[in-house]
Amino acid sequence: VAEGVSRVMVDFTQMRAFERDPLVLSRGEGIRVWDVEGKVYVDGVSGVMTMNLGYGNQAVIQAVTDQLQRLPLAAPTSATSDRMIEVTDRLLRLLPPGFGAIKLHSGGSESVEGAFKIARQFHRQAGSPGRYKVISRYGAYHGATMGALSATGYAAYKAPYEPLVPGFLHVAPPEPGHDHLARGCSCIEDFDRVIRAEDPSTVAAVVVEPVMTMAGVLLPPAGYLVGLREVCDRHGVLLIFDEIINGFGRLGAWFAAERFNTWPDLLVFGKGVTAGYAPLSGVVLSDRVAEAFSGAAEDHVQYLSGHTYGGNPVGCAAALATITQLEDHGIIDHVRELEPHLQGRLEALAARQPAVRGVRSIGFLACVDLPSQAAAAAVAREARELGLLTLPSTRAGVRLAPPLVSSAADLDEIVDILERAVASAARD
Ligand SMILES: Cc1ncc(COP(=O)(O)O)c(C=O)c1O
Repeated sequence: VAEGVSRVMVDFTQMRAFERDPLVLSRGEGIRVWDVEGKVYVDGVSGVMTMNLGYGNQAVIQAVTDQLQRLPLAAPTSATSDRMIEVTDRLLRLLPPGFGAIKLHSGGSESVEGAFKIARQFHRQAGSPGRYKVISRYGAYHGATMGALSATGYAAYKAPYEPLVPGFLHVAPPEPGHDHLARGCSCIEDFDRVIRAEDPSTVAAVVVEPVMTMAGVLLPPAGYLVGLREVCDRHGVLLIFDEIINGFGRLGAWFAAERFNTWPDLLVFGKGVTAGYAPLSGVVLSDRVAEAFSGAAEDHVQYLSGHTYGGNPVGCAAALATITQLEDHGIIDHVRELEPHLQGRLEALAARQPAVRGVRSIGFLACVDLPSQAAAAAVAREARELGLLTLPSTRAGVRLAPPLVSSAADLDEIVDILERAVASAARD
């Protein structure tokens, strides 16, 4: 296996370093995964914030297996499938009235990309053809394809691939602890200022991840998203929520939009929709946006894009089974009920460990701030040694996103191992 490792390009990872200490996983069960050497880890980050039902969920596995037998793919350019219609209907029923269509893809970046294309085409077909710019935030991760990367707010991730797509602008994200009300929040004013300075008739959309994950679980300050909705409405700009991590129960609600009581024009989801059992992602369109794509053949207003595996029936079957699991087992309520428990355990850890600079959590998504990137990397390394998988944040922190099926005892085990890792890294 070690020899094969050097030929695999692990995402965002320096291969020489990885080769010296590779993580080669081979199976999972419940909240645990095993590597090829037989070492077991608690998966404190649900793969990559995706395996929300844990590993070995027989109901989802059965649904995927049945669908593979029945129909693995429906020609996406000339047909759809019964499963795709069924999942679209089921997903729309999770949303409030006013959302009339869903464009399904397979990966998150494809759907972020799709949302930008839909936003640009919508304006062309709804009387504002000059609107093409997209505003996002520094510190945001929106995906790896060229458009999604253009909206991403990290210079280091972008530099090797420049020049990127023209028309992408960034503003500052809210700082942790920044709790100004909407009107006093300089971040909202930044969006307003940039839109006015750019000329609103050139701006197509604003895209935000309601709780910024990669930057270290940055929660929107009170009134932030409502204020942003107002700014977008004032200037005729579409609001896009990237809920690829936030959605499907991670924050103790079906969607961040529901939790923060603000709905976008386009809502992008991925990852948790199938709990990692098959690829699926999508863009939910408000009625107003969807309407602009509906016409007669000679109107030429159809969406001129798509992907081979977009809305593949296997992904749709996995999504249907995942939603059923979330509903039948009350998993989203379970996350909401245990949210204070996880937050309390992390606060206790922070109080005991001087190296910890702060903790933030919502639902089953948390970040523990440390003094430096090096300290965070050391804690993540130590945690792995002790049998817990975590992910670093880009702002000197370690993130947790346990499977949503984790019990209070599972969360305790995760926080206990993390605390031992923090203490041990501080001693080294
Ligand atoms: C907020 C957010 N947006 C977009 C993406 C891109 O999704 P994918 O990796 O499935 O292309 C990710 C992936 O981690 C993400 O976290």
